[in-house]
Amino acid sequence: MAYIEIIGGKHLHGEIDIHGSKNAVLPILAASVMNRGITKINYCPKIADVFVMIKILESIGCIVTWEHNSVIIDAANLTSDVVAEKYVSMMRSSIILLGALLGRNKCVTITYPGGCSIGKRPIDLHLKAIKQLDVEIIENGELIFCKSAHLKGTRIHLDFPSVGATENLILASVLAEGETIIENAAMEPEIKELCVFLNMMGANIKGAGESTILINGVKKLQDVEYSLVADRIVMGTYMTALAGTGGDVTLCGRCCLENKSVVTVLRKMGCRVGMGDDYINISMYERPRAIQMIETSPYPGFPTDMQSQFMSVLSIATGTSLLVENIFESRYKNAAELNKMGADIKVIDKIALITGVDQLDGCSVNAYDLRGGAALVIAGLLAQGTTHVNGIEYIKRGYEDICKDLTLLGADVKEVQ
Ligand code: UD1
Repeated sequence: MAYIEIIGGKHLHGEIDIHGSKNAVLPILAASVMNRGITKINYCPKIADVFVMIKILESIGCIVTWEHNSVIIDAANLTSDVVAEKYVSMMRSSIILLGALLGRNKCVTITYPGGCSIGKRPIDLHLKAIKQLDVEIIENGELIFCKSAHLKGTRIHLDFPSVGATENLILASVLAEGETIIENAAMEPEIKELCVFLNMMGANIKGAGESTILINGVKKLQDVEYSLVADRIVMGTYMTALAGTGGDVTLCGRCCLENKSVVTVLRKMGCRVGMGDDYINISMYERPRAIQMIETSPYPGFPTDMQSQFMSVLSIATGTSLLVENIFESRYKNAAELNKMGADIKVIDKIALITGVDQLDGCSVNAYDLRGGAALVIAGLLAQGTTHVNGIEYIKRGYEDICKDLTLLGADVKEVQ
C-alpha cells in the first residue's frame, strides 16, 4: 500500500500556488447539467473527488473534456436521470445532483449516501426542503425517486444551515416557477461562488452568502465560462502547517476566500499573517501558543474542515487547548493517532483536551478521512524522525499533490508506493 513518508523538523519557506476550491467546484460541476449546452470551468483542481463527479456526469450522458486546467462539460443531451449507487457510495457529495437533475428534468433517482467516518450525515434536511417545491419523493429502501409536474418556488426555512441542503435547494429552485426564499441558509463562501456561477449562467439569485437567499426562477440557462477561486481549506492546511514548523511562506491563489476565523486563531498562536486578494503571507518564529478554546460552527464560525489540522499543531503548543467539534460527531479519530506519536489528547464526546508536549515522535499512523489525513502529514512535519501516513487515498480526494506542495516549501516529504 502507498503511504506518505515525512522526515520532520524542517522549517517551511517559499511561495506556492493553491489549486481551485473542492467544495466550490463539486456543486458547480453538478450545476453544469442544468444548462442544455456548454460549461467551461477554469482552474479546476485535479483531485479524486472531481474525477468521481466527472464520471457521474459522463454516466448520465454529458461529454466532458479537459484543456490543461479547464474542464468543459457538454450537457446538451442527457441520457439518464439516475445517479448510480456506486458513485454515491464513493462520494457523499454526489447527493448534490439531486437538486441539479430535478431542476433540469423534473425527476431524478438517487441512493441514500449513508454515513462516513466523520459522522452519520443524514439527508433529512435536503429532502424536507426539496419536498416543499412541490416535489413528490418516494423512498424505497436505499432508493430515492423525486419528481415534480412543475417545480414551484416557495418560502423555505432550514432547521439547520446545512451546506449541502442549501446547495440542493438553490439548484432545484433556479428553474422553478416563481420565487423561492431560503431562510437560515448556509453562508459558506463556496455557496456564494455557486450562486455567482449560476447567475453567470442566467439564473436570478440574490442574497448569496447571507442567511436569506432569494431565487427568482428563470425559464432557460445559457453557456458559461467561469474561473474557480482558490481552495480556502487547502490554504488553511498549509498555514496551519507553518504555524507548527515555523518559517515564512506565501500562498497564492485566485480570489482568496474569506478565512477570517482561521487567521484569527493563527494570530493568537503567534503567527504573523498578511493578505491581499490573491495571496496570503504567513510567518512564525516561536513555539505555537495554546488556544483556550476553538469551537467549530457553521460559517462564519471556525470551520470543522480545519479542526484536525489545528489539533496536530496544538499538540506541541505551550499549554493546554480545548477543541469543541459541533458539526460532525466522529471527527476526533486523529487524537488516537497523534497520541501514538507522543501527543497528550483526551477526548470526551465533542470535546478534545490537548496538553502541549515538547515534541512528537515519528511513527506509522492511519488516516481515516480527507482533512484528518492532511493533519497527520502536518504532525509528521512537526515530529522528530520519520512518520508514515497510511490511507493517502483520502488525502487525494482534496489535495492535488500535497507532497509536491510541501516539498516546494522545503519539507522532506514523499509518496512511497
Ligand atoms: C459540506 C462540505 C464539508 C464540510 C461541511 C460543513 C462540501 C462538498 N462538503 O458538507 O467539507 O465539512 O459542509 O461545513 O461542500 N445534517 C443533517 N441533515 C441533513 C444535512 C446535514 O443532520 O440533511 C447534519 C450533518 O450530519 C452534519 C451537519 O448537518 O452534522 C453539517 O452538514 P452539512 O452542512 O450538510 O455538510 P455537507 O454539505 O455534507
